[in-house]
Amino acid sequence: MAGRIPQHFIDDLIARADIVEVISSRMPLKKAGREFKGLCPFHGEKTPSFTVSPGKQFFHCFGCGAHGTALGFLMEYEHMEFVDAIEALAGSLGIEVPREEGGKDERSNADLYMLLERAADFYWEQMKTSERAKEYLQQRGLDGRTARDFKIGYAPQGWDTLLNLLGKSSVERDGLLESGMIIRKDDGREYDRFRDRIMFPIRDSRGRVIAFGGRVLDQGEPKYLNSPETPVFHKGQELYGLYEARQALRDIPRLLVVEGYMDVASLAQQGIRYAVATLGTATTPDHLRRLFRVCNEVVFCFDGDKAGMRAAWRALENSLSVLREGRQIRFMFLPEGEDPDTLVQSIGAGAFEERLGEAMPLSRFLIQELESQVDSMDSVDGRAHLAELARPLLNRIPMGIYRELLLDELANHVGMAPERLSGLIFDQSRPQAKSAAPTNQAASLGRSNLVRRALELALHYPGAAAALEVQPQLQLVEKKGISLLSSLLEDCRNNPNISTAGLLERWREEPEAPHLGKLASGELLIDLEAAKMELKDSLNKLVRESGPDQRTDWLLKKASDTGLDPAEKQELRELLALRSTRNQADD
Ligand code: GTP
Ligand code: MN
Repeated sequence: MAGRIPQHFIDDLIARADIVEVISSRMPLKKAGREFKGLCPFHGEKTPSFTVSPGKQFFHCFGCGAHGTALGFLMEYEHMEFVDAIEALAGSLGIEVPREEGGKDERSNADLYMLLERAADFYWEQMKTSERAKEYLQQRGLDGRTARDFKIGYAPQGWDTLLNLLGKSSVERDGLLESGMIIRKDDGREYDRFRDRIMFPIRDSRGRVIAFGGRVLDQGEPKYLNSPETPVFHKGQELYGLYEARQALRDIPRLLVVEGYMDVASLAQQGIRYAVATLGTATTPDHLRRLFRVCNEVVFCFDGDKAGMRAAWRALENSLSVLREGRQIRFMFLPEGEDPDTLVQSIGAGAFEERLGEAMPLSRFLIQELESQVDSMDSVDGRAHLAELARPLLNRIPMGIYRELLLDELANHVGMAPERLSGLIFDQSRPQAKSAAPTNQAASLGRSNLVRRALELALHYPGAAAALEVQPQLQLVEKKGISLLSSLLEDCRNNPNISTAGLLERWREEPEAPHLGKLASGELLIDLEAAKMELKDSLNKLVRESGPDQRTDWLLKKASDTGLDPAEKQELRELLALRSTRNQADD
């Protein structure tokens, strides 16, 4: 496989591409002032709220909240994976995508993919010759075609069948170890991880085998054994069956998220070929972004018992950040004692899909759960409590029509005017996650707005940030978001010509990416010069008002409470010196 795409190439590509060209070659855009407008392709609308900014090289829809760079647009609009979007964008500019040289990691990854593919072939051959394994599949109701579609195999008994077949050289054995297929003891002994198990190959979005899940044929522990995390397998991102669903269906109407391999295979066997399974983990926002790249409707399927409800609630919480107009998430609860596999086998695909049609929309599940936690909806206290419970959840939903509609629905239930409820739920300062350090709340809210504003200014006008001098004292500010701000400023300084889009692309893989994307989406009504001044001002304020002093006070308090370690003592000395010079300068 090809090596990594160097970051400097991505920077360069974003700098050379024109987002207006990229988008207008796919949908109509009209010039409106300094920007371009069009009907949003990501939600249905009659008046254009989809805005493309050539200055920021960024698009944003005021209706549904969709936003991103040229690469982000290609990914959403063309349902492309990141690397494919890069290839497409580079291709349209006639540039070839370079790959990092000598990527030892990458080269060995290519070897890992090959080993895993060969392992899958081997297990598949074994399935064909093992009566016991074939009988097991048959008894579970799976036919040969389903087995082939998913390439369900069999790892034979014995401690070293795979090892002997694929581990002839020490390099190969290292590969087997790295891909999780063998286990190596401290004394150097090696043996197959999977023995006497039904093997489900797990594929990535390109169809490459990246891991396996193995089930025992009879009783035995553990029932399922999965590959460990490896350089090519990250549980929290992969979905079993997604590749197969895309192979089987040209148009995927919806994706059904279930718990087990068997559920996916069994549903496919009955004709429901759009089921996927998470791999023993809760559904993550990463999972959801991947699912919504394929279609606009996701249905979660859970047991109807308490544990199922809890899992469903966790899925709901993890879904909030990806919600937006046009996307639908629903929850299907199964009768006690059934799983999708047993249910579809007993009632058939038609009846199963009927139940699917009645799955509960996310909004209803959310409101119903909140209501169940509140004593009485008739009392003022009850309603206030409900608003309180809803606040952190609704604040995680991106601004836009979806959030508005959900708020209306909630207001309806609470018996309150939507505007009033909105006032209660969305206060101006966006609530931050609880910070670990004990801080004065009122003061920290003010500061968090300062950090937020500085981030916003730097994102909209990277040039303004690039022009600022380094402020080492910024590092000392005890405030959530400061390290993000510092790195962002550093990005700007190191790449003086970088655009908003270029900055965002550098943060694409980071957890902060959605937050930055939202900040970049807003409109700034000031120009570059004003931004420079304001940014400089906010940084100064941050440092002067909340930075070293707060840290100093904290260290002083700690000194008297529990004592300081040598590094902290040194830091305190410096801070106190700083404070006294500053006080003199102020006089
Ligand atoms: P069948 O009994 O084959 O129908 O499996 P199931 O999918 O109904 O089983 P279950 O609900 O117990 O498990 C659902 C999913 O959880 C499986 O597909 C696995 O991904 C995971 N799982 C179940 N048991 C184990 C286990 O013992 N170890 C690990 N690591 N994962 C498990
Ligand atoms: Mn089952």
